[in-house]
Amino acid sequence: MENYKEINKEQWNQRVDPHTASEFYDMTGFLAGKSSLQETELRLLGDLSGKRILHLQCHFGQDTISLARMGASAVGADLSDKAIDKARELAKTLGADASFVCCDLYDLPQKLEGQFDLVFTSYGTIGWLPDLDKWASVISHFLKPGGKFVFVEFHPVVWMFDDDFQKVGYRYFKSDPIVETASGTYADKDAAIETTSVSWNHGMSEVISSLLKQGIQLQDLQEYDFSNYNCFAHTEEFAPGKFRIKHLGNFIPMMYSIVGIKSL
Ligand SMILES: C[S@@+](CC[C@H](N)C(=O)[O-])C[C@H]1O[C@@H](n2cnc3c(N)ncnc32)[C@H](O)[C@@H]1O
Repeated sequence: MENYKEINKEQWNQRVDPHTASEFYDMTGFLAGKSSLQETELRLLGDLSGKRILHLQCHFGQDTISLARMGASAVGADLSDKAIDKARELAKTLGADASFVCCDLYDLPQKLEGQFDLVFTSYGTIGWLPDLDKWASVISHFLKPGGKFVFVEFHPVVWMFDDDFQKVGYRYFKSDPIVETASGTYADKDAAIETTSVSWNHGMSEVISSLLKQGIQLQDLQEYDFSNYNCFAHTEEFAPGKFRIKHLGNFIPMMYSIVGIKSL
């Protein structure tokens, strides 16, 4: 899949307008000062005042700007030029201490200088990347010795199911790229777009060993039997802001989080 980046870039560019207009991303609330960050990552991030943060795969910048609103100086990076244009516009409108870089994640060390106190990335990120050793090397490159990596992601078990959560359709372990064409988007199922995507599933041991190999020590690992986002089929909100697949209940993990510390 030589051209996976071009395919995925086109997909994410197409998603920016419907996403910024969606209830899911609640732009009105965000512009009025509401944080887009969830309790799960807020607990792991801790006090951010005066911290320099790199936010990988930042989409159109809501989380990056939310980090800056907590007193950090934040840099967001993403492959989609349309998303980065929107992120820059939002940061300017809101006067946020957030700047943005547009490039493929693997190219970031050639596009951005400096090291950071914290690297953050969340929800729907590594599935777009074929090589986690390279991903972890980028994280390690940008972390100061002793710096903190905070990661919250959907669980690989979720990605084993077909879109309807009726049967297991994909391997837990990384395999051949999954190429899909679909209409709408997770933030607005009725959006008038049709997109093609290329993705990979990554099991937990692949994720963790990639970080360990790059000198990022595991400080905390958790699995959650719910999703903070209502972005799957057949969900129920069993508690405010907590979603499960109705017919699977609490039988499967839906998210995990990792906190890592770069070795001194
Ligand atoms: C689901 S979003 C990130 C989630 C974010 N928490 C949000 O919802 O705002 C995934 C992002 O990854 C970016 N992305 C996909 N492939 C990438 C790559 N190879 N390098 C950098 N960014 C990439 C996409 O452009 C998209 O903005």
